[in-house]
Amino acid sequence: MQIIHTTKQAREFVWNLRRNDSTVGLVPTMGALHDGHLSLVQASGRRCDHTVATIFVNPTQFAPGEDLQKYPRTLDADIAGLRSAGADAVFIPDQDQIYPPGCSTFVKPPDVAETLEGEFRPTHFQGVCTIVLKLFHLLPTTHAFFGEKDFQQLCVIQAMVRDLDVDIEIVPCPIVRDPDGLAMSSRNRYLNDRQRQRALCLSAALRQAEQAYLGGEQNPKTIENQMRSILSGDDQNNGVDSIDYAAVVDSKTLQPISDLDQPAVALIAARVGSTRLIDNRVLCAR
Ligand code: PAF
Repeated sequence: MQIIHTTKQAREFVWNLRRNDSTVGLVPTMGALHDGHLSLVQASGRRCDHTVATIFVNPTQFAPGEDLQKYPRTLDADIAGLRSAGADAVFIPDQDQIYPPGCSTFVKPPDVAETLEGEFRPTHFQGVCTIVLKLFHLLPTTHAFFGEKDFQQLCVIQAMVRDLDVDIEIVPCPIVRDPDGLAMSSRNRYLNDRQRQRALCLSAALRQAEQAYLGGEQNPKTIENQMRSILSGDDQNNGVDSIDYAAVVDSKTLQPISDLDQPAVALIAARVGSTRLIDNRVLCAR
């Protein structure tokens, strides 16, 4: 597996791979890789002739006071994981390669970025759109693979690619969960054993949402209340410390809906200790 540090090398490497009409999949990451990330590399391996991953902890998607400084950095293990998952190359740029001094242009995210995460992290998707569009330019691959764990991020990137006519196919990949249901996330490393146990109420709340939906519940508010009740915990205080949102919304626009007669998704963002976790479940696919 090739390890690439400069933007010039990165672009040349991808164009070289694309000779003879070969397909190339991109797997953008911020490192601290887990099996969810590696499943994206494997999905790319099944779909494309070649796979290039990136590792860059993107400062512009973190607001002041968020976890940029303490975000886990596990480079050696990440490289080993990518190699064993079959990546052809990994691009690991320095901050100056991506944001040279004087860099002051940012992408304004599409409307779908405004709700949910957009309300609680107002600058987040501007940073995500900017880095992702830059990576699409620097590594002009035919496909890019994103996990459904960051459901809103996936919607935002799909809308950006559509609106800005970016010539790339976005491939959504399913959430990977630990056997007990916790959605894999680099931020799970922040949780101690007790907190990890409490974090299970996110997936439990989403399972309840799905059961209610499959049982014929038509009112999104009823399902939201049930999710909040599970997230709040019981007498033993098994819940989360705070809830940013527990919402059932249209799965394309992420806007509120009044009835579950259309494609819908349940999404949660909540804190356990100081760790902010997100998870979701599609209730009715498009
Ligand atoms: O999902 C992530 O890890 C990041 O938001 C991404 C897409 C790599 C952009 O920094």
